Amino acid sequence: MNKRILVTGVAGFVGSNLAKHFLDAGYSVVGIDNLSAGTVDNVDARVEFHKQDICDAEIYSQFHNADAIFHLAAKSSLTDCLTKPLEAARVNVLGTLNILEAARRAKAPKFVYADTSAEYEGINEFPTPETQVRPIGVYAASKHGGAAFCDSYRELYGMNLTMVRYFNVYGPAQDWRRVVPPVMSAFIIRMLRGERPVIYGNGEKRRDFIYVDDVNALHQVILEDPRSAGKVFNVGSGTNFSVNEIYELIEGLLKTGLKPIYKPDLPGEAHVTLADITNARHLGWKPKVEIHEGLRRSICYIQERVLDAVKAGLNQPSAFSA
Ligand SMILES: NC(=O)c1ccc[n+]([C@@H]2O[C@H](COP(=O)([O-])OP(=O)(O)OC[C@H]3O[C@@H](n4cnc5c(N)ncnc54)[C@H](O)[C@@H]3O)[C@@H](O)[C@H]2O)c1
Repeated sequence: MNKRILVTGVAGFVGSNLAKHFLDAGYSVVGIDNLSAGTVDNVDARVEFHKQDICDAEIYSQFHNADAIFHLAAKSSLTDCLTKPLEAARVNVLGTLNILEAARRAKAPKFVYADTSAEYEGINEFPTPETQVRPIGVYAASKHGGAAFCDSYRELYGMNLTMVRYFNVYGPAQDWRRVVPPVMSAFIIRMLRGERPVIYGNGEKRRDFIYVDDVNALHQVILEDPRSAGKVFNVGSGTNFSVNEIYELIEGLLKTGLKPIYKPDLPGEAHVTLADITNARHLGWKPKVEIHEGLRRSICYIQERVLDAVKAGLNQPSAFSA
């Protein structure tokens, strides 16, 4: 029988891509999302979709017979978390605890928690291994709270639990509607519209970017390889690019002649991220989509799926950050 995968945050960027990946691989997918940030357009028609809040007890019935839980639902916008810290903690800490409890009751054989490289905000070792964390911001602290309960449930109940710490994931369905959209979507949308991209600070912040298909592939390895149990994996490319370099790469593909506008820096962002991906490589995984190809695919998606919505005024991206 097909394995049944449950994905929380299935209407969001990474969750919707992950659901498609597992469906294409022959799994069946149950998805939960309250559509607070994600959109139903992102959800593949083959997903058994439930519009529910991860903090509600109503979700428990969806967990029966799930072979694996991928918990991605979260308040993931740094700006939203800063302005609404209690809501960030409610969703990212209590919501995660509720998902763990649902998984425990259903005796789910595998649990994967989507953690973040923001856990490393206070660490100055590059490339950064998984060994120590020092979250500082509200988003990082709230994701750390969720991770702490994951550790607790793994120890208390012997759950088969794996944590994945994403660096900057990019690709189709990135949330361009945010007040501060992810840097690649922000640049591509503005430049395709003939507008100059906006860079906050001097553009020398460096980020480890990983294309979403590579993230999906690692999740499948983690699901299938028993060596992943109880471990934490950085999910990055092991290389990084400055914001200026990303602008240059996109300009190289689009050839718009538009120069960036530099504005004062946004506070609270790390200067450098760079993943040590040795642990993930030991599972036999490696990133395959290099940056030009990833950007080319992102541009195609935005041309086909996003530009008309932006033109229709569904939302106007207004600020940009890495
Ligand atoms: N995208 C990245 O680069 C990145 C980096 C590090 C970590 N992460 C983590 O990966 C996960 C997915 O990130 P993403 O970029 O896809 O974010 P996203 O915001 O696109 O998706 C999150 C989804 O969770 C849903 N959600 C929020 N609160 C909910 C609630 N109370 N109940 C049910 N659903 C709720 C939202 O509607 C959204 O669809 C998150 O846990 C995030 O912290 C992402």
